[in-house]
Amino acid sequence: MVDSSIQSRIRLLTRELHEHNHRYYIENNPQISDFEFDMLLKELQDLEEKYPELSFENSPTKRVGGDLTKKFEVVEHKFPMLSLSNTYSEEEIREWEERIKKTIEQPYQFVCELKYDGVAIGLRYENGNLTKAVTRGDGVKGENVTANVRTIKSVPLVLKGDFPAEFEIRGEIVLPKSKFEELNKEREAQGEPLFANPRNTAAGTLKLQDSRVVADRGLTSYLYGVYGVSGLFNGHYESVVQAGEWGFQVPTKKNNYISLVTSIEGVLEFISFWDEHRHALPFDIDGVVVKVNEYAIQDELGFTAKSPRWAIAYKFKAQQVETIVESIDFQVGRTGAITPVANLKPISLGGTTVKRASLHNADQIEKLGLRIGDTVKVEKGGEIIPKIIGVSIEKRKIEAAVFSFITNCPECNAELVRHDGEAQHYCPNEKECPPQVRGKIEHFISRKAMNIDGLGGETIEALLKNELISSVSDLYLLDRLKLLELERMAEKSVDNLLKALEDSKAIPYERVLFALGIRHVGETVAKKLVKHFSSIEKLQNASYDELLEVDEVGEKIAQSIRMYFQKEENLILVEALKKADLQFSSVEKQNISNILANKIVVVSGTFQSFSREELKELIELNGGKNGSSISKKTDFLIAGENMGPAKLKQATELNIQLLNEDEFIKLISQK
Ligand code: IVH
Repeated sequence: MVDSSIQSRIRLLTRELHEHNHRYYIENNPQISDFEFDMLLKELQDLEEKYPELSFENSPTKRVGGDLTKKFEVVEHKFPMLSLSNTYSEEEIREWEERIKKTIEQPYQFVCELKYDGVAIGLRYENGNLTKAVTRGDGVKGENVTANVRTIKSVPLVLKGDFPAEFEIRGEIVLPKSKFEELNKEREAQGEPLFANPRNTAAGTLKLQDSRVVADRGLTSYLYGVYGVSGLFNGHYESVVQAGEWGFQVPTKKNNYISLVTSIEGVLEFISFWDEHRHALPFDIDGVVVKVNEYAIQDELGFTAKSPRWAIAYKFKAQQVETIVESIDFQVGRTGAITPVANLKPISLGGTTVKRASLHNADQIEKLGLRIGDTVKVEKGGEIIPKIIGVSIEKRKIEAAVFSFITNCPECNAELVRHDGEAQHYCPNEKECPPQVRGKIEHFISRKAMNIDGLGGETIEALLKNELISSVSDLYLLDRLKLLELERMAEKSVDNLLKALEDSKAIPYERVLFALGIRHVGETVAKKLVKHFSSIEKLQNASYDELLEVDEVGEKIAQSIRMYFQKEENLILVEALKKADLQFSSVEKQNISNILANKIVVVSGTFQSFSREELKELIELNGGKNGSSISKKTDFLIAGENMGPAKLKQATELNIQLLNEDEFIKLISQK
């Protein structure tokens, strides 16, 4: 019997930690130090570990993530998630008000809000507990991303005050600019491709399978609509204020993220204020949303097929400036693609100093009619790299130099090639051109390919410079002692690297194929190819026509694959990788044992050494079946940390054998 004082201590810690979280993340007014907070959290974690049956489903310890879900469940929205019609000018805003006036005679007010440039989310609460977080999806059905949203500190897991028993609140998940920049800096240092903008990064992050990574990214939320509480409020503005009282991060009058105004002039003032000041905000916005405040009037105005008549979005125009193209550089990518980049006279645009702009390819330069020294119009949309949208011919100086595309690679001097029908020039010297060699290695080790941690851009550079490697297959021949001689390679990093390389030998064939970096063979195409050709030999011998039979493989991809396997250096590389024991065929996994034959096993909670998916696989490989919920038929419950108390109770009542992680491993290791 558990001491009831433990129960009350867990309850107290849970409540206090929720409160401190709120003070820290929403009110910006912490009452205790980070250290004290961590100590309380640690105490709660320890207690929950010892007494999982007493932990709360929405415990603050769950913020750290850890639930590994493979796919997101599709959930129907209780209320469709509509979009807004867009306007771009003062006139259009005035016309919108004219349309309202045609139906509405009584007085009404407008609520002006920021248009957060993030990912729409619907959060459902039952009895003050977050139960579901669903993405917009197609507006009718979205994806259940609750495990990931739970890790976002500004989303309350448990509400405060006097909240309705059941309701939904909608808003936007955004990635603050500072977090986005930090993340890209890290990626740059590791030689990983950069994220384009905070919005895409937020969307990608919400769909990550590992919520521990989500927890690290630093997403935040702004909520702007309460649903399913008819009769509780008269208008939108008061609902937002009230949602703040329940613990949500909402826009406030104080930070001017929201404003209640009585006329369209007030609306225009709000728009012009944020058009000017938006760059100082800690997150991106792409406009302002204007809503009629009164619910009764909203009802009267109703909806068109796609959007409400009572709300409208005003989108800011992308900012444009003029500057001078001082020179043009050429960058060589991993695949040898040459990208011309304009070096600009530095100029401030959208809150940052712009020095460079991509010119994409030779056709683009020709289309612009660009000469060096020209004055150009530069625009910054949602992307970090600004675009040159036109040349101001009238400002052209006589000395502006006509520009011709380079004929040789700026890195290795090989003669460039341009394939029929392609806009891009390529350097064909795959084997020696330094950025291509480096890029191929970076791609090979990347997370979605061979996932070799511990090999950052600098280490790769050092390995190449010291001639320890010249291609990816050399990675598997690395010698521990030689590695230790490298600067900044301590024993621990060397061992980690060698372990990561060893582990990568188990990476399935489809990812190895993707890792080879065959032009136009991305993750999806690699999967399709593996489904069709179960080994690399079969793929190597496939004719052009046979390749075309594969789903999603067209002429361009088929040609690229044929070309890849026609080059001797690639055949040598594949052979060397085979020798290193990488997976080059897709094999049906063989059962390890039949110890769990006819047994139904349920996995619940999180584990130290395995993800839930890995445990489920182990169950199947040992002859067992995975059950999704506990029933009379369940034979074992593998209980991890943070398992729901309801499940535990059910299992105990049904007399189901409980196993912890170690006991399970012991069970399947019996001979
Ligand atoms: S209200 C019925 N308010 O913009 C429409 N949306 O283009 C409910 N958005 O899908 C949306 N900030 O993802 C509303 N303050 C705000 C918003 C906002 C950003 C997004 C939202 C919506 C899209 C519509």
